[in-house]
Amino acid sequence: MRYFIGNWKMFGVPKSVSILNKINSYYSKDKNRNKYKVVITPPYTLIESFSNHFKNKKISIGAQNCFQKDQFSSNTAAISSYMLKSVGAKYTLVGHSDNRGEGDTDEMLKDKVRYALKNNLKVVFCIGENKTEKKNKKTLSVLKRQLTKAMEKKFKKNDIIIAYEPIWSIGTGKIPSANELKKITIHIKKVLKGIFKKNSPAVLYGGSVDGTNVEMFKEIREIDGFLIGGASKSSKKFIDIIKNYYR
Ligand code: PGA
Repeated sequence: MRYFIGNWKMFGVPKSVSILNKINSYYSKDKNRNKYKVVITPPYTLIESFSNHFKNKKISIGAQNCFQKDQFSSNTAAISSYMLKSVGAKYTLVGHSDNRGEGDTDEMLKDKVRYALKNNLKVVFCIGENKTEKKNKKTLSVLKRQLTKAMEKKFKKNDIIIAYEPIWSIGTGKIPSANELKKITIHIKKVLKGIFKKNSPAVLYGGSVDGTNVEMFKEIREIDGFLIGGASKSSKKFIDIIKNYYR
């Protein structure tokens, strides 16, 4: 199974559902539709209405983050996985570099993953090195640390998706070379097989993915799909990625 996950970040108002209607109508007619899943993570404000709108449709709705506590707490502005589940979310991102950059530690992320799974959300766990770590050849060790700090063998591999997103690539138009990316994806799967008793969860790539560079990414068969930021805000750009992937 492949995944095309659109991360809207701070984008969207109720009428933006028209973008998803177009993606959904492409998806429901695509002859390749059984080979992949489409998930969109809009801002919190749209999760309930979008989840209702697409209840019996192909697209699934997820959240961009969740708080590291179960159910309810006294943390102002925090949203728990329990609350997300209650309004129809099926997935949540955890550990996006935007949130790691705002202070999410490995320990906090571990709790987010735990509570998300407890509340029956599938977790899209984001990992990735920054520019300095890449320059200092620390990429593989950074990724291993991020994975081993948060993942546990008791988790079900089908409830977890890993998104490899090099921070230097997000929103910059810069992407890793095919060789580099293949090597890194194989490394990630090796670490995951160590944790999940020989079975690796799906591993996605994210960072400046578009309808053109997906032609290069699709040659790397180890990559199980994409986490798409900028290009997911346009139905045409998002559909182009899927079209060109299966061309
Ligand atoms: P981008 O964002 O596709 O705009 O680089 C990816 C992400 O942040 O998830």
